[in-house]
Amino acid sequence: MPEDTLTITDNRTGKTYTAPIKDGAIRAMDLRPIKTSEDDFGLMSYDPAFMNTASCISRITFIDGDLGILRYRGYPIDQLAEKCSFLEVAYLILHGELPTAAQLSSFEAEVKQHSMVPEFIKRVLDAMSPEAHPMGMLATCLAALATYYPESRNVLDAGNRWLQTVRLIAKVPTLGAYAYRRKNELPYVGPDNDLTYAGNFMNMLWKMTEAKYQPHPDLEWALNVLFILHADHEQNCSANAMRSVSSSQADPYASAAAAVAALWGPLHGGANEEVLKMLDQIGSMENIPAFIEKVKKREVMLMGFGHRIYKNYDPRARIIKAAADKVFAVTGRNPKLEIAIELERIALSDDFFISRKLYPNVDFYSGIIYQALGFKPDIFTVLFAIPRMTGWLAQWRELITDKEQKIARPRQLFLGYGHRDVPASR
Ligand code: CMC
Repeated sequence: MPEDTLTITDNRTGKTYTAPIKDGAIRAMDLRPIKTSEDDFGLMSYDPAFMNTASCISRITFIDGDLGILRYRGYPIDQLAEKCSFLEVAYLILHGELPTAAQLSSFEAEVKQHSMVPEFIKRVLDAMSPEAHPMGMLATCLAALATYYPESRNVLDAGNRWLQTVRLIAKVPTLGAYAYRRKNELPYVGPDNDLTYAGNFMNMLWKMTEAKYQPHPDLEWALNVLFILHADHEQNCSANAMRSVSSSQADPYASAAAAVAALWGPLHGGANEEVLKMLDQIGSMENIPAFIEKVKKREVMLMGFGHRIYKNYDPRARIIKAAADKVFAVTGRNPKLEIAIELERIALSDDFFISRKLYPNVDFYSGIIYQALGFKPDIFTVLFAIPRMTGWLAQWRELITDKEQKIARPRQLFLGYGHRDVPASR
């Protein structure tokens, strides 16, 4: 019997089956021949929430949750955050290799060329109330762009895929900044191509009457780091939404709108907004022990803690915590940082959190920096979505070119009624 196989004995029939093991997995379809009779459908695996199911083969992002490792295309996240610009990392994520100087400048030029959004987007935003949630605004604008670029539906054409990839990466900061300006009832500011990806985003957010906006270099640096940390995170809820929707060959704008919707949820990217609300509720240091008790009694969640994959400190949280000092040197210290650090200290010495391996995740400290930068909590998740667009697009491009992939269509275990007739009285 070859070593790289799994032998399964079906105790219902006494029959034995052999399934090959490749890359640490068996194929779910190798369970299908396991039947009790000819008309039996065959064995399935049941895995709500994909706890132990690989839905794809990917070569983009690697996470070792036990060791707290995150790498894009093999490069450790801390090295990328220290040495690279966001667009260098975006190129790496999309193409698999860091760009040469010439490749980077050509990619930067392409992104700059596409950074404006069509004028009708302003009317779409103006039709929404300034009270509307900015993630709703972003999802709406992305779906609206699908109507503007109908050729984007031609997803099987590589050249067209690249054009839409560049367009989406170029336009998402503009859409995010426009949502911010709509919420603050400020006139829209278009892109400035003299600036970096992060610097131009700051310009579109914060330019007032000055002739030329100059981003503060330390804040621009911090935003660049935050963008890099959020660029991709393998098969998370929103990446899965992007893959699932685009597996029907939907266009990438509509698929990205779905990914934004997934990211918006409080258990995913929406957690950064919830962390700030939680810190506000706690209010001061002396209320922390009582709050921890409430978490342990399951009355509330400790937002920004826990992760499906990380059972160790999220490496992104560590980098964000270190970056906070540089931001606070410019903006002044956010008093919530003290509460967060104390909350973390208490949680990490409490058996409830230790035994469940609950550590701070990326969202625990990012909101504190965002708030120090002057953002209100409801825009935080947009700041996550902007860099994550690169990851979603890389996941989409990998899916479309993967010969094994088809329309995503999970199975179900049906436990509802069997056949029954509608009563004759109806
Ligand atoms: N506070 C209190 N208890 C928690 C928390 C938390 N934040 N997270 C998990 N637990 C408990 C959970 O109740 C369970 O306990 P028990 O085994 O006794 O029932 C145990 O820890 C395992 O949790 P789980 O719910 O099985 O874990 P999961 O992998 O299904 O959920 C999670 C992961 C991130 C959704 C969850 O930890 C959570 O809701 N955290 C708070 C929200 C948050 O910070 N989300 C951001 C995630 S990172 C950025 C991103 O991906 O967008």
